Amino acid sequence: MPLTSTRSTGGNGLAELHSVGSADEATAVALLNCLIREVSGPAGRVRDDGDRLAVELAHTTVTARLARPSHGPSPRLAGPFTAGDADLGWREVAELVAAELALRTGTDNPEFLRQVASSHEAMSVFARSGRTDSGLRPLLASEQSLHAGHRFHPSPKSRQGSPAAWLPYAPEAGARFRLRLLGADPELLDGTGDFSALAEEGVLPVHPWQWRLLQERPLLREALSHGLLRDLGEGEEVVPTSSVRTVFAPACGLFAKFSLDVRITNCVRKNAWYELAAAPVLTGLLKPLLGEGLLGEPAYRTVALADRTLYEGLGVILREGAPENAVMAAALADPYGRFLPAEIDLLAYWEAYVQAVALPVLRLFFEHGVVLEPHLQNVLIVPDADGMPVRAVFRDLEGTKLLPGWELEELPQRAREAVTYDEERGWNRVAYCLFVNHLAELAAALADREPDCEPVLWKTAARLLEEFSGHRRMREVLEGAPLPAKANLLARWSRSADRAAGYVMVTNPLAG
Ligand SMILES: Nc1ncnc2c1ncn2[C@@H]1O[C@H](COP(=O)(O)OP(=O)(O)OP(=O)(O)O)[C@@H](O)[C@H]1O
Ligand SMILES: [Mg+2]
Repeated sequence: MPLTSTRSTGGNGLAELHSVGSADEATAVALLNCLIREVSGPAGRVRDDGDRLAVELAHTTVTARLARPSHGPSPRLAGPFTAGDADLGWREVAELVAAELALRTGTDNPEFLRQVASSHEAMSVFARSGRTDSGLRPLLASEQSLHAGHRFHPSPKSRQGSPAAWLPYAPEAGARFRLRLLGADPELLDGTGDFSALAEEGVLPVHPWQWRLLQERPLLREALSHGLLRDLGEGEEVVPTSSVRTVFAPACGLFAKFSLDVRITNCVRKNAWYELAAAPVLTGLLKPLLGEGLLGEPAYRTVALADRTLYEGLGVILREGAPENAVMAAALADPYGRFLPAEIDLLAYWEAYVQAVALPVLRLFFEHGVVLEPHLQNVLIVPDADGMPVRAVFRDLEGTKLLPGWELEELPQRAREAVTYDEERGWNRVAYCLFVNHLAELAAALADREPDCEPVLWKTAARLLEEFSGHRRMREVLEGAPLPAKANLLARWSRSADRAAGYVMVTNPLAG
């Protein structure tokens, strides 16, 4: 089997996906990906006839083109989309998905179509803005490259407000902007750890979008008018990363994770007080285990005003910097992306990748009771000079949990609860993020180059993961147990909190 491949693989490959990667298609594909995974697939209402996939809805049958055969947990869909004899646009697909959900769940969601439309609008804006190759180093360029975003979310790019409000802060449009600075008497600031590289003593950096959202809060106005807080104007220029609310500060080489009272995919992006408190403690516990494989979050700072919205809304976490040549995994796996090296030995690349990402995640879980959240956006891949993966760097301590048994005495009870998962919840998160969200998507991107390679990739992965087969959970996976996949569509439809999102079971490609 030819496993060394380039971008041109006849009619089925990445080149073709590139050329059809429009906002319309990306929106429709994401919706159908979710519907098939969470609703129609489990109900046995999906039919693969080789060239096209048919999804039987209550009132009609929707079809999509199959870009290539898939041996992963999900089909590789592309337009055109049809129902009966009619071609469907993205909006009609969204309406059919909404109607199907209303019927199957017995509930309605009047926000849903608006959120899908907002996501589509954002994708269209990014497509028009083109790729601004601003000479950003690979890491930041990859952070700003996700024009279509999460492939299993119904509204991956939706943002509250009009484009005029969010475009200045959008990583996908190549944004850079200046932070707002607030001066305060040091006793009016709260926090722990050494924050000095990010801001001087008595200074709180504020995301300018959040500043606009919060500046009319009565207690903030009062503190400003009494001189307890001072508006120091604009600070240094920063570059937003893929999460929108976390920015890179070139002057100090660090990241700053802000709260942003805006719904981005599943959550309003707020640093809860207990997450602020937990980040430095988790950093202290996990740094000895992961070293430079973890972007630590050793400090935070916020205002100590008697208003929880301000305490959390103005809370900012300092995150360590990352190697400039690293690339975010989501950019490597993006079917519309350009970060996967052009000429690689696919099998050698995959072997190196699985070892770099999966081995540390599983070692931490099984040997130390640490639940990383290694989804595509939370992992950076450090390559060698030829582009081959050397190691992974994990980030985002908000999603990082510990199994019972860790000493967390220094944390308040609420924070201890927030960072502690029981074994089942921890394993579901690891298995979903690692296998379904991450490795399956990377395998699919490699298979866009060489459609026949997917079974070999999974066989190789199973061999590499064999060392963990002494652990029951891993043994079950290697024996073919279905894998958990987060139900983003159902969570959005029922307007649940992200942490309440359930899982559906999907085919396990490691089964052999
Ligand atoms: N495959 C993916 N899985 C999860 N998130 C993805 C994926 N692809 C793109 N994303 C986007 O990445 C973001 C992930 O959000 P997440 O909650 O992990 O980050 P955060 O906590 O806000 O910030 P940070 O990662 O900087 O700590 C969301 O905007 C989501 O849409
Ligand atoms: Mg993240």
